[in-house]
Amino acid sequence: GAPVEVDVSKLEPGEQVTVEWRGKPIWVLHRTPEMLDRLATLTDSDRLRDPLAKVATQQPAYITGPLRSLKEVYLVVIAICTHLGCVPSFRPEPGSVGDDWPGGYFCPCHGSRFGFAGRVFKAVPAPTNLEIPPYRFLSNTRIEIG
Ligand code: FES
Repeated sequence: GAPVEVDVSKLEPGEQVTVEWRGKPIWVLHRTPEMLDRLATLTDSDRLRDPLAKVATQQPAYITGPLRSLKEVYLVVIAICTHLGCVPSFRPEPGSVGDDWPGGYFCPCHGSRFGFAGRVFKAVPAPTNLEIPPYRFLSNTRIEIG
Protein backbone atom coordinates (compact mmCIF):
# COMPACT_ATOMS: atom_id res chain seq x y z
CA GLY A 1 0.00 0.00 0.00
CA ALA A 2 0.93 3.62 -0.50
CA PRO A 3 2.34 5.72 2.33
CA VAL A 4 -0.10 8.03 4.12
CA GLU A 5 0.71 11.59 5.07
CA VAL A 6 -0.56 13.15 8.30
CA ASP A 7 -0.48 16.87 9.07
CA VAL A 8 -0.19 17.31 12.84
CA SER A 9 0.07 21.13 12.85
CA LYS A 10 -3.50 21.45 14.21
CA LEU A 11 -3.37 18.47 16.54
CA GLU A 12 -3.57 19.97 20.03
CA PRO A 13 -1.74 18.44 23.00
CA GLY A 14 -3.90 15.64 24.36
CA GLU A 15 -5.65 15.04 21.04
CA GLN A 16 -5.20 12.15 18.68
CA VAL A 17 -6.24 11.52 15.10
CA THR A 18 -6.96 8.19 13.44
CA VAL A 19 -5.79 7.56 9.87
CA GLU A 20 -5.90 4.44 7.79
CA TRP A 21 -2.80 2.73 6.40
CA ARG A 22 -2.90 -0.63 4.61
CA GLY A 23 -6.43 -1.14 5.89
CA LYS A 24 -5.35 -0.65 9.50
CA PRO A 25 -6.28 2.19 11.84
CA ILE A 26 -3.27 4.20 13.00
CA TRP A 27 -3.35 6.67 15.86
CA VAL A 28 -1.22 9.77 16.00
CA LEU A 29 -1.32 11.13 19.55
CA HIS A 30 0.06 14.50 20.60
CA ARG A 31 1.25 13.70 24.10
CA THR A 32 0.98 16.40 26.77
CA PRO A 33 3.78 17.06 29.30
CA GLU A 34 1.55 15.36 31.89
CA MET A 35 1.20 12.27 29.69
CA LEU A 36 4.96 12.15 29.25
CA ASP A 37 5.42 12.50 33.01
CA ARG A 38 3.03 9.65 33.69
CA LEU A 39 4.71 7.57 31.00
CA ALA A 40 8.10 8.25 32.61
CA THR A 41 6.90 6.80 35.92
CA LEU A 42 6.37 3.49 34.13
CA THR A 43 9.97 2.68 33.36
CA ASP A 44 10.38 -0.44 35.44
CA SER A 45 9.12 -3.91 34.75
CA ASP A 46 6.85 -4.08 37.78
CA ARG A 47 3.78 -3.15 35.77
CA LEU A 48 4.84 -3.55 32.13
CA ARG A 49 5.78 -6.65 30.19
CA ASP A 50 8.26 -4.97 27.86
CA PRO A 51 9.04 -1.51 29.28
CA LEU A 52 12.07 -0.88 27.09
CA ALA A 53 10.33 -2.15 23.95
CA LYS A 54 12.82 -4.93 23.32
CA VAL A 55 10.50 -7.23 21.39
CA ALA A 56 11.80 -6.42 17.93
CA THR A 57 8.65 -7.33 16.02
CA GLN A 58 6.69 -4.49 17.62
CA GLN A 59 8.49 -1.48 16.15
CA PRO A 60 10.94 -0.58 13.38
CA ALA A 61 14.61 -0.86 14.37
CA TYR A 62 15.02 2.94 14.39
CA ILE A 63 12.38 3.32 17.13
CA THR A 64 14.18 2.72 20.42
CA GLY A 65 13.57 3.40 24.07
CA PRO A 66 10.54 3.60 26.31
CA LEU A 67 8.85 6.51 24.52
CA ARG A 68 8.73 4.44 21.32
CA SER A 69 8.71 7.46 19.02
CA LEU A 70 10.89 9.61 16.79
CA LYS A 71 9.75 12.84 18.44
CA GLU A 72 8.93 12.86 22.11
CA VAL A 73 5.47 14.39 21.86
CA TYR A 74 4.06 12.32 18.99
CA LEU A 75 3.09 8.69 19.34
CA VAL A 76 2.37 6.90 16.05
CA VAL A 77 0.93 3.46 16.71
CA ILE A 78 -1.23 0.80 15.08
CA ALA A 79 -4.62 0.83 16.83
CA ILE A 80 -5.05 -2.92 16.93
CA CYS A 81 -4.91 -4.89 20.17
CA THR A 82 -2.14 -7.49 20.08
CA HIS A 83 -4.43 -10.03 21.72
CA LEU A 84 -7.17 -10.73 19.17
CA GLY A 85 -7.29 -7.58 17.11
CA CYS A 86 -9.95 -5.34 18.66
CA VAL A 87 -9.50 -1.57 18.54
CA PRO A 88 -8.68 -0.29 22.05
CA SER A 89 -10.29 2.85 23.47
CA PHE A 90 -8.38 6.03 24.23
CA ARG A 91 -8.72 6.49 28.00
CA PRO A 92 -6.39 9.36 28.91
CA GLU A 93 -7.91 10.26 32.30
CA PRO A 94 -5.95 8.83 35.24
CA GLY A 95 -8.13 6.57 37.36
CA SER A 96 -10.70 6.01 34.61
CA VAL A 97 -9.83 2.32 34.23
CA GLY A 98 -9.24 1.40 37.86
CA ASP A 99 -7.59 3.33 40.68
CA ASP A 100 -4.04 2.74 39.51
CA TRP A 101 -4.75 3.62 35.88
CA PRO A 102 -2.18 6.18 34.67
CA GLY A 103 -3.99 6.85 31.37
CA GLY A 104 -3.55 5.19 28.02
CA TYR A 105 -5.48 2.68 25.92
CA PHE A 106 -7.93 0.09 27.16
CA CYS A 107 -9.17 -2.78 25.03
CA PRO A 108 -12.88 -3.38 25.67
CA CYS A 109 -12.82 -6.94 24.34
CA HIS A 110 -10.86 -8.66 27.12
CA GLY A 111 -9.42 -5.82 29.17
CA SER A 112 -5.88 -5.40 27.86
CA ARG A 113 -4.20 -2.18 28.90
CA PHE A 114 -1.54 -0.10 27.19
CA GLY A 115 0.10 3.18 28.20
CA PHE A 116 0.79 6.36 26.23
CA ALA A 117 3.65 4.63 24.39
CA GLY A 118 1.55 1.58 23.55
CA ARG A 119 3.43 -0.55 26.05
CA VAL A 120 1.37 -3.40 27.42
CA PHE A 121 0.67 -3.83 31.10
CA LYS A 122 1.15 -7.10 32.88
CA ALA A 123 -1.73 -9.38 33.83
CA VAL A 124 -3.75 -8.75 30.67
CA PRO A 125 -4.31 -11.10 27.71
CA ALA A 126 -2.34 -9.07 25.13
CA PRO A 127 1.18 -10.57 24.89
CA THR A 128 3.08 -7.66 23.39
CA ASN A 129 3.20 -3.90 23.03
CA LEU A 130 1.07 -2.27 20.36
CA GLU A 131 2.89 -2.20 17.05
CA ILE A 132 4.59 0.94 15.76
CA PRO A 133 4.35 1.30 11.97
CA PRO A 134 7.24 2.55 9.85
CA TYR A 135 7.09 6.36 9.63
CA ARG A 136 9.22 9.46 9.23
CA PHE A 137 8.90 13.21 9.58
CA LEU A 138 8.75 15.09 6.27
CA SER A 139 8.84 18.36 8.25
CA ASN A 140 8.22 19.31 11.88
CA THR A 141 4.49 18.81 11.45
CA ARG A 142 4.13 16.34 8.58
CA ILE A 143 4.44 12.63 9.15
CA GLU A 144 4.62 10.00 6.44
CA ILE A 145 3.44 6.55 7.53
CA GLY A 146 4.53 3.56 5.50
FE1 FES B 1 -7.91 -6.80 23.09
FE2 FES B 1 -8.55 -9.35 23.59
S1 FES B 1 -8.59 -8.30 21.70
S2 FES B 1 -7.91 -7.82 24.97
